[in-house]
Amino acid sequence: MSKEQNFVKTAVIGHPIAHSKSPLIHNHWLNAYGLKGEYTAIDIAPEALESGVRQLVEEGYAGFNVTVPHKQAIIPLCDEVDTLARTIGAVNTVTIRKNKLYGTNTDAYGFVQNIRSTLERDNISWNFSGGKAVVLGAGGAARAIVYALALEGAPEIVITNRTLEKAERLVSLAPDIIKVVDWEARDQALEGANIIVNTTALGMDGQPPLDLNLSAAPTGALVTDIVYAPLMPPLLEHAKSRGNPIVTGIGMLLHQARPGFELWNGPLPTVTKKLETAVLEAT
Ligand code: ATR
Repeated sequence: MSKEQNFVKTAVIGHPIAHSKSPLIHNHWLNAYGLKGEYTAIDIAPEALESGVRQLVEEGYAGFNVTVPHKQAIIPLCDEVDTLARTIGAVNTVTIRKNKLYGTNTDAYGFVQNIRSTLERDNISWNFSGGKAVVLGAGGAARAIVYALALEGAPEIVITNRTLEKAERLVSLAPDIIKVVDWEARDQALEGANIIVNTTALGMDGQPPLDLNLSAAPTGALVTDIVYAPLMPPLLEHAKSRGNPIVTGIGMLLHQARPGFELWNGPLPTVTKKLETAVLEAT
């Protein structure tokens, strides 16, 4: 093998894609590790997915991230999809080797690593297995998060969602420990919680705030939100003011990008304050 490093082409595909922060994150790391390569954002409409992906293979891409609306549609186009992505039902990271596509999902990893690294940074002692998890929302992000919570040893997971049937569809991820609760009963569901996760878009810039009364939640319950614009949505402000440990959402976006970078470029990159600031400034 030549010592000269090849130029590694990678990308994120989605529709629309202009808003994606992934190019900033990956190009920051390529630069930080002195690697030759480029990560671009490629808009592929749903009807052009198969031909668009074939073109990436032909052009010698090492892999790509997959975002809305292709995370499910990419599955049958992959030659192999690992158990994690199959269980979550979505692929967000594809590696191309010898013209074959290998799909995985790094959202569960991103969720867990964001919490672990924040706990370490803030010197907080807290464990996933310490009690009940309460998850608000039942969309695509919730699926990966509920599965991550089950893998990390949450003894019970309560899911509450405006549309009850969507929450019920998540039960099969861990039927022995998942319970579904009406959206109207969400405040009471917080009693005895060890972790509270907002996976809905509520609280995001331009969206209504999440109406959640934390009074019943223990002050030791970790409160986290996948929303990162703003970085401190009202839920996290409220949780912080009553002394709960909090974890902001930006880290999930940054940490979920790490395994893909490692698969395509070699090093498992680190998430730095500098990178976090750059992404937040671009948001
Ligand atoms: P993602 O893939 O990011 O999770 P999604 O699949 O569109 O996005 O899911 C959005 C989540 O936010 C859903 O749980 C949605 O509730 P429904 O399943 O009832 O649609 C929730 N959500 C969005 N707007 C909401 C609102 N105004 N009130 C309550 N929940 C809301």
